[in-house]
Amino acid sequence: MKIHNFVFRKDLCFKKQNSTDGYHIKTIRPPLFLNIKPKFMSVSLISKYNVAGPRYTSYPTVPYWNNDDFSLLAWKETLIRSFRESNATEGISIYIHLPFCESLCTFCGCNKRITKNHEVEIPYIQSVIKEFKLYTQLFGERPNIKELHLGGGTPTFFSSENLKILMEGIFRNATKAENAALSFEGHPNNTTTAHLELLASFGFNRVSFGVQDYNETVQKAIHRIQPFENVKNATEAARKAGFTSIGHDLIFGLPFQKKEHIIETIKKTVDLRPDRIAFYSYAHVPWIKGNGQRGFKEDDLPSASEKREQYELGRELLLDAGYIEIGMDHFALETDSLYKAIVNKTIHRNFMGYSDSKTQVMIGLGVSSISDSWYSFAQNVKGVEEYQALVESNLLPVYRGHILTNEDLVIRRHILNLMCSLETSWSSPELYFNEIPDVLLNLKEMELDNLILITSEGLAVTEKGRPFVRNICMAFDLLLQRKQPETQLFSMTI
Ligand SMILES: C[S@@+](CC[C@H](N)C(=O)[O-])C[C@H]1O[C@@H](n2cnc3c(N)ncnc32)[C@H](O)[C@@H]1O
Ligand code: SF4
Repeated sequence: MKIHNFVFRKDLCFKKQNSTDGYHIKTIRPPLFLNIKPKFMSVSLISKYNVAGPRYTSYPTVPYWNNDDFSLLAWKETLIRSFRESNATEGISIYIHLPFCESLCTFCGCNKRITKNHEVEIPYIQSVIKEFKLYTQLFGERPNIKELHLGGGTPTFFSSENLKILMEGIFRNATKAENAALSFEGHPNNTTTAHLELLASFGFNRVSFGVQDYNETVQKAIHRIQPFENVKNATEAARKAGFTSIGHDLIFGLPFQKKEHIIETIKKTVDLRPDRIAFYSYAHVPWIKGNGQRGFKEDDLPSASEKREQYELGRELLLDAGYIEIGMDHFALETDSLYKAIVNKTIHRNFMGYSDSKTQVMIGLGVSSISDSWYSFAQNVKGVEEYQALVESNLLPVYRGHILTNEDLVIRRHILNLMCSLETSWSSPELYFNEIPDVLLNLKEMELDNLILITSEGLAVTEKGRPFVRNICMAFDLLLQRKQPETQLFSMTI
C-alpha cells in the first residue's frame, strides 16, 4: 500500500481528500472549543523522547558539516552550476543578515551585535552590497530574485533611508521575479511607518514581529519590555502600508512563564489577527558564546512537562481561533500563502524557516549568513570587522561549508518531507537508501507509542507524534547515528 493512498487513522494529523484541484489537506480535529482542557502529553513520553536534537533547518546540520573537504573553489563551482540550472526557471532567494540591536534580550539565540551607535549602518550596508556584487560577477547573469528576507539582529535598527540604499544596491544587480516574496523581521518597539512605507515601495509584502510574551514578569526576565500597544500599532501600520502577510513570533518555555501567561499572550495575539504565528519552543543554548542568555537562572525555567503543557495549551487556543498548524512551530490563517503552500505541496524549509516555495539557490549575505546551492552549504564569518575586511579585499567572506554527498542529498529530502508535510516515502528508487531497515528499527519504539504509522514504502506522523517530529528526523540522520556529539550541541527536542 502506498503511503499517499492511506486511509488515515483518526489520530493522524492530516486527512487528504481528492478534489478537482488535486489533493486537499485538511486538519482533522474536533469542533472548536474553548472550555475543554487539552489532553497533555504523558510525562513518560516526555522523559523518553526529550533529548538534545537538531531543529533541521538544514541537512546535514551545521555541526556535521565536513569542513575539511570543503573549499571556496568547490563552493563556487557547485553554486554556479546550481544557479545556471535554476535561475531562469525558479529564480533565487536572498537572505540578508542585519546583526545590530540597541538592547540585548537575554533569551536571544540569534547572531547579534548590541550597540547604540548608528554609524555602523552605512559601512555595513556597503559591505553587503559589495558582497552581493561579488556573487553576481560570479554568475555572469542577472539573478532573478524570487524571495528576499531581511533578518537579524534587528533590520529596523537601520533607518529607512539606509534600508533604501541597501535595496537600491541589491536591485541594481538583480531583477525582481514576478510574485516575488519580500519579507523582513521587525522589532515592534522600533518599526516605524517610514520603514514600512519604504519597504512596501520596494515590493515588501510580509513582515514578522517579535512578540515573545506579553507578561511583564517574563518581559523583565528576558530584558524586553514591549507593551501590547507597540505591537498593535506596528501591526496596524503594516496593514495600512499594504503588507498582506503579518506574522507574530511567540515563545513558550521562557523564564517565569506560566500557563496563564500563554493564555494572556495568545488572547492578545489573536485579537490582532496576524496572518501567521510562529510559536517557538524556547531554545536554551547558554553554551553558545556571547549569546547573552544570562539574565535568569536555570531554576527560573519551566520544567520539560510544564513547557510541553504550555505548547499544547497554546496550540489548542490557536486552533480554536481558526489557525492551522503547519510543519513545526507554525500556524497560519487559511488565507495566508503558507497555508496555500501546504495545500499546493510547495512548502519548503531552509535557514530562513518555512517558505512558500523552493528555490535551489539561496544566497546568504552579511555576517554569519548561510548560503545553500542545494549541492553545498557555505557560512560567512561571524565578526562584523572580519566580514567587512574580507569583502573589502574582494573575497567572499565564507569560512566553512559542506559539499553534499549523494547520501546526504537523499536524506535531505526525507528530512524536508518530514519537517514540511509530516510524512515521507521511499517508494521511488531515488528516495530509497540501504539503511532504511535500520532507520525503521530505530523508529520501532515510536511506532509502538503510536507516534508514527509505518508501511513498507513510507511513514506518516500521527497527531500524537507531531511534537516528536525532530526525534523522528533524528532516526533518518545517518551522520548523527554514526557519531553522537561528545558535548551538547543542540537544544532539547521538547
Ligand atoms: C531576530 S529575532 C526578531 C527580530 C527582532 N530582533 C525582534 O527581536 O523583534 C527572530 C525571532 O527569533 C526568535 N528567537 C530568538 N531567540 C530564540 C530562542 N533562544 N528560542 C526560541 N526562539 C528564539 C524570537 O521569537 C525572535 O522574535
Ligand atoms: S530578540 Fe531581536 S532585539 Fe532581542 S537581542 Fe535578539 S535579535 Fe536583538
